[in-house]
Amino acid sequence: MATFIVLLGPPGVGKGTQAKILANTKKLAHISSGDLFRENIKNQTELGKHAKSFIDKGELVPDGVTIGMIRERLNRADCKPGAILDGFPRTPVQAVALEKMLAEFKGQVNVVPYISAPEAVVVGRISGRWTCRLNGHIYHQMFNPPKQTGVCDIDSSELYQREDDKVETVTIRIRVYLEQTIPLVEYYRKSGKLIEINGEQAVEQVSKDLYSAIKNHFM
Ligand code: AP5
Ligand code: MG
Repeated sequence: MATFIVLLGPPGVGKGTQAKILANTKKLAHISSGDLFRENIKNQTELGKHAKSFIDKGELVPDGVTIGMIRERLNRADCKPGAILDGFPRTPVQAVALEKMLAEFKGQVNVVPYISAPEAVVVGRISGRWTCRLNGHIYHQMFNPPKQTGVCDIDSSELYQREDDKVETVTIRIRVYLEQTIPLVEYYRKSGKLIEINGEQAVEQVSKDLYSAIKNHFM
C-alpha cells in the first residue's frame, strides 16, 4: 500500500527543505504545489498565467485549479509507492478533495507532521532564502549557504530570490495561512493523524524528529 504524508506548516518553516530530504531517503515522490505553480509560470502555461496573478499577491490560487493540478501530478508513475505532499492541501476543501483522490488509488493520508515556528523565525528564513532556478533546490544565506554565491551546489544553475518573498507579500502569505490553513490543523488533529514538530531547530534536528514521528507509518 502506498504511503502519503502531508506536511503542514507556515510559509518558510522548512517544508520544502524537509520534504526533499525525506523523499530522497524514503524513495517517495515529492509533490510541492508551489514548485508546480512556479514550473507552470516559467513555462508560461495557461495555468501558470492564471496562478501568477494570485501568487504575486500572496493569495491562494483557487481550489479548483489547484486540485486539478495535483490530481494530474498524483497520476504520474513515481507516485505509486506514495508521496510527500508539501503545500497541499491548504484549505479544508482541498483536504476533502485529496481524500477522494487518494481513495481512487486505494490510499489515504497516513500521517500529517505539522512543523511550526514563531513568525519572526519564518520571516528570517524567507528573507535569506535562495532557490535554484532549474530544480528548486533550497539554500539560505546564513543557515545553509551554497559553496559558491549564487550557484546551486547540485546542478550549478543560478540561484534566485522568489518574487513572493518580498516583505509585503510575506506578511500577506502569513495572514492567509492563519485564516485559511490553520483550520486544517484542527481537521487533522481530530482525525488523529497530526504530529507536532518543533521547527525552531536546526535542519538536521527537525529531520530527526520528523523521521521518528513518521517511522511507524510506512506500509
Ligand atoms: P509555496 O511555494 O508552497 O510557499 P509556502 O507554503 O509559503 O512555503 P515556502 O515554500 O515559502 O516555505 P517552506 O516551508 O517550503 O520553507 P523552505 O524549506 O523553503 O507556495 C507559494 C504560493 O503558491 C502560495 O502563496 C500560493 O499563492 C500558491 N499555492 C501553493 N500551494 C497552494 C495551494 N495548495 N492552494 C492554493 N495556492 C497555493 O525553507 C525556507 C528557508 O529557510 C530556506 O532558505 C531554508 O534554507 C531555510 N531553512 C529551512 N529549514 C531551516 C531550519 N530548520 N533552520 C534554519 N533555516 C532553515
Ligand atoms: Mg516550499
